[in-house]
Parts: sequence; C-alpha cells; structure tokens
Amino acid sequence: MKQRLYCLLAATALTATVLTGCGNGTGKENKADTAQSAAKAGVTVAPFGSVNGQQVSLYTLTNSKGTKVSITNYGGTVTSWLTKDKQGNLSNIVVGFDSLAPYLQKPPYFGALIGRYGNRIAKAAFSLEGKTYQLAANDGANHLHGGNKGYDKVVWTAAPAADSTASLVLTYLSKDGEEGYPGNLNIKVRYTLTNDDELKIEYDATTDKATPVNLTNHAYFNLSGDVKNSIKEHTLTINAAHYTPVDATLIPTGKIDPVANTPFDFTKPEKIGARIDKVPGGYDHNYVLDRKADTALFLAARLQDAISGRALYVYTQEPGLQFYSGNFLDGTFTAANGSKVVKHAALCLETQHYPDSPNKPQFPSTILQPGKTYHTVTVYKVAVE
Ligand code: GLA
Repeated sequence: MKQRLYCLLAATALTATVLTGCGNGTGKENKADTAQSAAKAGVTVAPFGSVNGQQVSLYTLTNSKGTKVSITNYGGTVTSWLTKDKQGNLSNIVVGFDSLAPYLQKPPYFGALIGRYGNRIAKAAFSLEGKTYQLAANDGANHLHGGNKGYDKVVWTAAPAADSTASLVLTYLSKDGEEGYPGNLNIKVRYTLTNDDELKIEYDATTDKATPVNLTNHAYFNLSGDVKNSIKEHTLTINAAHYTPVDATLIPTGKIDPVANTPFDFTKPEKIGARIDKVPGGYDHNYVLDRKADTALFLAARLQDAISGRALYVYTQEPGLQFYSGNFLDGTFTAANGSKVVKHAALCLETQHYPDSPNKPQFPSTILQPGKTYHTVTVYKVAVE
C-alpha cells in the first residue's frame, strides 16, 4: 500500500514519466505493460524509506525494449531486473525486495555494491607499507565484504546521469579508518542499462593513502524469474582453466590449480547441479579468468536457463570471478513474488580480484596508490536464445 502511494506521488511529481519501478508486486508483468514502457526509456525515482534520518530512493532505469533495472542508493543495491523470457513476458531475474525493510535486516548482500574489499581477507588483517591494519572479523576469524558496515549498508549519493538515457551515478566517500581501512577513498559507481539489455557497471576510485580496493556487485541471479526453480538446473560456462583452491574457511591456499578433471571445470557448458555434490558446501570459489590483457572486457561466463530461454553473459576487466552457488541461503528471506530464498535458489557471479590478495603477494595486486585511479568495468548482458 505504502509502495503504491509512493508510486502515485512520484508519478505526480514527475510529469513526463510514470513510475516504471512500481510493478504489480508479483515480479511478473504482462506484454501490454512491456509495450507501454518501450515509450518511456529513462530513469524515474521514487522514495524508498529512510535510514538513520537519511532519505533513500529507488531509481528505475528503463530501456527501449521495456527492460527495467531498479537500484536503491541504500548500498547501491540492484533490487530488481525485469527482463523478457522467450514468451516475451517480463520477470525478475535477481533476488530483491520492493521495500527497504528487508534490506535493513542484513540479507546476504542481495544485489548490493561490495567494498572496500569484496570477498575475504584472512585473519581480518593485512600489512601495507610497514603497517599492520586490523579489520572486523565478520566471517569467523576472517574479514568478509568490507566488514560490519561495508558499502552494501551505507547510503550513497545518487543522481541520474545527464549524458545518458538510462544511467545512474552513485558516489560515496569512505573515510580514512572506516572499517579499519587506510585512506579517504572517493568512489564513483555508474550503472547504465543499454538498449542491448546490458547492465554496465563502471567503478572508479581515488585515495589519499595506499589502500586495498576490490569493488564488486553481489547480484543473485535466477534466470527463470522465480527462485522456486533451483539454479542447479542452470547451465554455466566459465572461461577459466584455473581457480584458486581454498581452505576450510574459504581463504585461498595461495595455489592456482587447473580445473581440468575436477568438478570446478566449467570451460564447457555444464549443469550446475551435475557435480555440485562433489564440492563440499557447494561452489564458492574464485576462478582465474583466461583473459589475455588486463584492460579489455573479457567474456568471463555465460549462464543459461532452459525454462525461460534466458542467457546471461558476464564481461569484465577483472582477473577473477567468484562463482557462489547460494550455499548459505536458508529460507530466511522471501522474494518479492512470495517464493522463499532457499539454498541454491540463486547464484552469484562476482567479478573481482582474488580473495585475500593483500596477504598473497603472488596474486595480482589490489593496492591503490594516491595519484592513481582505480577503474574497472563489468557488464551483465541478458539475451533470449
Ligand atoms: C560471497 C561469499 C560467500 C558468502 C556470500 C554471502 O559470495 O563468497 O561465501 O559469504 O558472499 O553469503
């Protein structure tokens, strides 16, 4: 009800547009809606509640095909991605909620921006330029996804970009010492929805002290559009002949091993469920991408779902990809369409540098120096095939 009211208010305020982010709440919209929204490519904004007195908004990016991506500036979180299946029906391919409240209950990073360091840092500590930095141990003895209050739990400053039809720019100043990290880090993340159904994420950051930086997005995908269908039925290809094996606490051992003849081999399309039982706990591993250059966008992975006919392509400039098969999802959260988010209900393909790089000199460096700019691009593209 509240949501509907916001929609009406926003529609009144924005004379040129009707709020496209206000669906019917089922996660599905019909073809008529699709045709209508084709005329409304752009960005709309609606109130999404408040956190500690700070107003939070929901921005909806719509492209000429009627695809819609909603993003809140709380955590820079992608809350929904409505895209067509082979029948032309729109449904939501990411796990998310249509109100702020569940996001404040600390869900496992559904759709959020992650930083300052995505993934794990062993023993929640690292040394840099002769100094040891202690971070929050929020994953057993280790540090995970930026600590107790990572970038997924802060309010970002957001504004639609003036130079693009469907683009949102988010900025955040992560202060020196925040969550134990050195240096004031000025971050800019730009989400763009193209007319080719690509969600492009551009990350930029500068610092005034040397610091580790590893930014990513933690979208959970289920291409069928309903998390009641297990992602074990999805087919996955990862362009990586190697991965970083981990210890029992998911910290890389430091080795880089071939995937050949292991259940980690996704160099050819494989059903996720085919060998998952051979991986204790399920997939939660960093793949070492087969990219040749570190600047070009590289096709890291392709995910396919036979039910909907949708495929997801992941392109990145990052050297690694965390394939996480939703092993810790336990039904605590319910998706907007009413389906429980249970184990293997959704999966993540997180583009990144390798976990624990600050403690692994043999891995590509994640240290950003003052005067340099961190810049990396990841593109998620959806197609019907
Ligand atoms: C990442 C980690 C997983 C898990 C999830 C959140 O993908 O690699 O181990 O912590 O985040 O639950």
